[in-house]
Amino acid sequence: MLNVAVIGAGTMGNGIAHVFAQNGFKVNLIDVNAAQLEKAIQTIQKNFDRQIAKGTATEEQKSSALANLTTFTDMAKGVDGTELVVEAATENIELKLNIFKQLDSLAPANALLATNTSSISITRIAAVTKRASQVIGMHFMNPVPVMKLVEIINGYATSQTVTDTIVALSKQLGKVPCVVNDYPGFIANRILMPMINEAIYSLYEGIAGVNEIDTIMKLGMAHPMGPLQLADFIGLDTCHSILNVLHEGFGNPKYAPCPLLTNMVTAGYLGVKAGEGFYKYTAGSKELVVSDRFN
Ligand SMILES: NC(=O)c1ccc[n+]([C@@H]2O[C@H](COP(=O)([O-])OP(=O)(O)OC[C@H]3O[C@@H](n4cnc5c(N)ncnc54)[C@H](O)[C@@H]3O)[C@@H](O)[C@H]2O)c1
Repeated sequence: MLNVAVIGAGTMGNGIAHVFAQNGFKVNLIDVNAAQLEKAIQTIQKNFDRQIAKGTATEEQKSSALANLTTFTDMAKGVDGTELVVEAATENIELKLNIFKQLDSLAPANALLATNTSSISITRIAAVTKRASQVIGMHFMNPVPVMKLVEIINGYATSQTVTDTIVALSKQLGKVPCVVNDYPGFIANRILMPMINEAIYSLYEGIAGVNEIDTIMKLGMAHPMGPLQLADFIGLDTCHSILNVLHEGFGNPKYAPCPLLTNMVTAGYLGVKAGEGFYKYTAGSKELVVSDRFN
């Protein structure tokens, strides 16, 4: 397999395109937003520079990876001739069902269709296509060039051959694949999101401040990032949608998003990508500054 299309050039899409291109795949990066595609290429360049500074990539790898990347705003052109499509568009079920309906008619008949969804049912996404056995979850972690795990999710109809292909492919990308079954939140987010939601509830109920909550989890549990910082990093809108999927999927109120999270998402305080969430982010600054709203 050599030709891959990645749909969505946001936080995850640019990272997924980066690792495929770095490992010699021809990558068509597709987004409805042309400015987002430009930003993604700049991010990939910057991330390569960081890898070069750390000694984990070379200038040659950077230039050959960049030569492997082509950007498209037209999905039909972008998926033409591809063997695998990895969808990493916004976490919204109607949007993803619509993309997969289009992909089913636009991508070559033998192409595998993977989704990087954090929580939406693979079985449900596969059911809108006529190739459910070729649809699978390929859940990369953020930041994709750094994180080793790929959670691979078998939909109800995914064939074993397709799972084997995606496991082998993940290894080829230098990742560690873990195969799980398709139930709400899979494994990673079923365990992570209730922890993040509980951290937000602790803040909402005034039990502790942002710094205290994150420091307790960092120093007490040896987590590299506190749950509030991690939520900002993932995107509060993404966290909110995942909690809604868990809530609806299990019908259990324990998964309902904290009202504070709902308010922040409604107001557009989405974390790192919006410049403010629980912390505020200034371009180029590494200092972690708590948002004025929580001081
Ligand atoms: N952010 C994380 O930490 C993380 C981790 C693992 C998985 N995910 C999953 O990855 C997916 C993408 O998340 P993200 O954080 O990169 O989101 P994002 O908001 O950063 O980027 C989404 C991109 O999709 C594009 N898009 C929207 N509709 C489109 C369409 N019809 N065709 C092409 N592009 C379209 C948007 O323009 C945007 O650039 C989601 O399913 C999310 O759940 C996110």
